[in-house]
Amino acid sequence: MAAYENPFTPSFGEIPAHLAGRKQIIENLNRAFSSARRKPELTTIVSGARGTGKTTLLTLLAHKAEERGWISVSTTALPGMLDDIEIRVRKHAAHLLDHESSHALAGLGIPQVIDVRFEKAEQPADNWRSRMEGLLDQLEAHGSGLLITVDEVDVELDEMVQLAAVYQHFVREERKVALLMAGLPHHVSALLSDKTVSFLRRAQTEQLGRIADFEIEDALLKTIRENGRDANPDGLKRATEAIGGFPFLMQLVGYRSWDANPKNELISYDDFQYGIDLARSELRERILEATYRELSPQDVRFACAMLEDERESRIADLVARLDRSSAQVAQYRKRLIDAGIIGQRGRGVVAFELPYFRDFLSEKRANGELD
Ligand SMILES: Nc1ncnc2c1ncn2[C@@H]1O[C@H](COP(=O)(O)OP(=O)(O)OP(=O)(O)O)[C@@H](O)[C@H]1O
Ligand SMILES: [Mg+2]
Repeated sequence: MAAYENPFTPSFGEIPAHLAGRKQIIENLNRAFSSARRKPELTTIVSGARGTGKTTLLTLLAHKAEERGWISVSTTALPGMLDDIEIRVRKHAAHLLDHESSHALAGLGIPQVIDVRFEKAEQPADNWRSRMEGLLDQLEAHGSGLLITVDEVDVELDEMVQLAAVYQHFVREERKVALLMAGLPHHVSALLSDKTVSFLRRAQTEQLGRIADFEIEDALLKTIRENGRDANPDGLKRATEAIGGFPFLMQLVGYRSWDANPKNELISYDDFQYGIDLARSELRERILEATYRELSPQDVRFACAMLEDERESRIADLVARLDRSSAQVAQYRKRLIDAGIIGQRGRGVVAFELPYFRDFLSEKRANGELD
């Protein structure tokens, strides 16, 4: 008997067969893409820890925009980003752009090179903004708008700041444009607190947190059933619990459990248990270690002080344990929230947010790997 094909996607930015949760943001943007009036959601910043599904969401929303007649270009905040955006617009919108104005002309036969030079000297200098305006005019003539998605935002990148500034002009000019950005929480908060792009503070921000268990369970089961197999109910419950609402882990647990005995129609309790164990060690290598390495010794001390509490920690207790001023403790707290490791649970109370980070840290401490 042949093995069933594994439908899970434990990779990066791959749209899964069934997306768990995230319905509200998708619905809001869908509405914004089809609305005749400009909606604030058209400028949105998505923030979330590693593996919470930022890239996936950007990809999915770009598809949704295209279904509604927008042109979308997806880029990452890296040097060359502005050029990349322009080149991609010309490519993706080639069917809407009038060819006279297409820059592909510059590369044509030799006699024209001279003409082109002449022309350039006489024309007022153009720049990225003016070229993009020309493109937007043409899109608008076809009733189409432009969605730019920027993944892994980074305020250190000059082009990021330039893009935000030019985009602000486009919005003011009432052009049909949208900007969706995504990044790790500390990059997003650095971007939002930068004076040069202060208008972004008025953008919609979406924090990608945990997904509710029932949504994870539902997405797991649908993915399994639609691909010809079934799940042992207790195993499924156990898997949902272990996933802790964390999208990347859902794919990883699903993938490994599926592969335990891929020729059986039923994924058994033991298959799930096997998948969970394997997924947890992979999570450690691929997410937890990387997150941990970015912490300062003070951050680690703060997180370790939280281990003494069973679930939630009161800031007042942490101040006492750490023997630091409340201002200093407030700073560590913010850094760990920004890193997606802990989350606020009401006033003055925090808890671990990144699944298994607590276990990971206790283990490290028990092994004497922390000083
Ligand atoms: N809502 C969801 N439901 C189920 N699976 C999801 C969901 N969102 C993302 N995934 C899956 O989780 C994996 C990780 O998602 P993604 O790469 O988008 O995370 P990310 O936040 O961009 O991570 P990083 O910070 O490392 O770039 C993907 O393989 C994707 O298939
Ligand atoms: Mg990503």
